[in-house]
Amino acid sequence: MTADIAVIAHRGASEDAPEHTLTAYRQAIADGSDALECDVRMTADGHLVCVHDRRVNRTSNGRGAVSSLELADLDELDFGSWKAPAGDEERPDRGEAYALEPERSRVLTLERLLELVAETERPVGLAIETKHPTRWAGRVESRLLEVLAANPVPGPVRVMSFSARSLQRVRAADPALGTVQLMRFLLPRHRDGGLPAGADIAGPSVRVLRRDPGYVARAHRAGHPVHVWTVDDPADVELCARLGVDAVITNRPRTVRDQLRRLA
Ligand code: G3P
Ligand code: CA
Repeated sequence: MTADIAVIAHRGASEDAPEHTLTAYRQAIADGSDALECDVRMTADGHLVCVHDRRVNRTSNGRGAVSSLELADLDELDFGSWKAPAGDEERPDRGEAYALEPERSRVLTLERLLELVAETERPVGLAIETKHPTRWAGRVESRLLEVLAANPVPGPVRVMSFSARSLQRVRAADPALGTVQLMRFLLPRHRDGGLPAGADIAGPSVRVLRRDPGYVARAHRAGHPVHVWTVDDPADVELCARLGVDAVITNRPRTVRDQLRRLA
């Protein structure tokens, strides 16, 4: 069972490299990840970019909401220097990392990430999270489906969201696309393992499983695979393996993959 658990790199190999950068995703692929997780947000001029927060303040040297900036504005920013390279206590000067290593610092579009996956020799899956609320509402999903149609990749693609509405829009537009209902906690109506219409995979936080380990069996009985986030701690990896989850989403894909192999 353990050997079958898929390892999904959360924002890339984001323990080692700045989250959502091409460097983080290249590292995640080299680390043997089965799939790559990313958050998508829409810019003022309609591009989908891989950024977690509503604003760019935490992960770049800029300020402002992604939805009010154009792609050209984001392209001027440094998304890498806030994070020191692994093993390096000192942060490099802003600008220096960008000049030396643009892939580590440049904003990543979803299209470029799909290109990377398409170029990879083995099939690598994608778990794309739509972030809501946003001023663009349903335009995010329609743009996402357009981008996916224009940039086919060989591995499985799933759309994830905390917003059931977002997943319903995706399901209505493309019933073949896998959908993951993310859950920070279990609503009483979902304790039996059922999911809202439009979702076929359960995406609980690992905290849900710590409190209610029986949830995995109930979701399975209801016909739903279980993808758990964010599973970095060895005790959580062990718990997920013991419960027989289907995928773990982690910031440290190599370490987690190695632990799962040892447990198998
Ligand atoms: O993979 C699901 C997880 O990413 C949801 O939380 O805040 O990291 O996007 P967050
Ligand atoms: Ca996410």
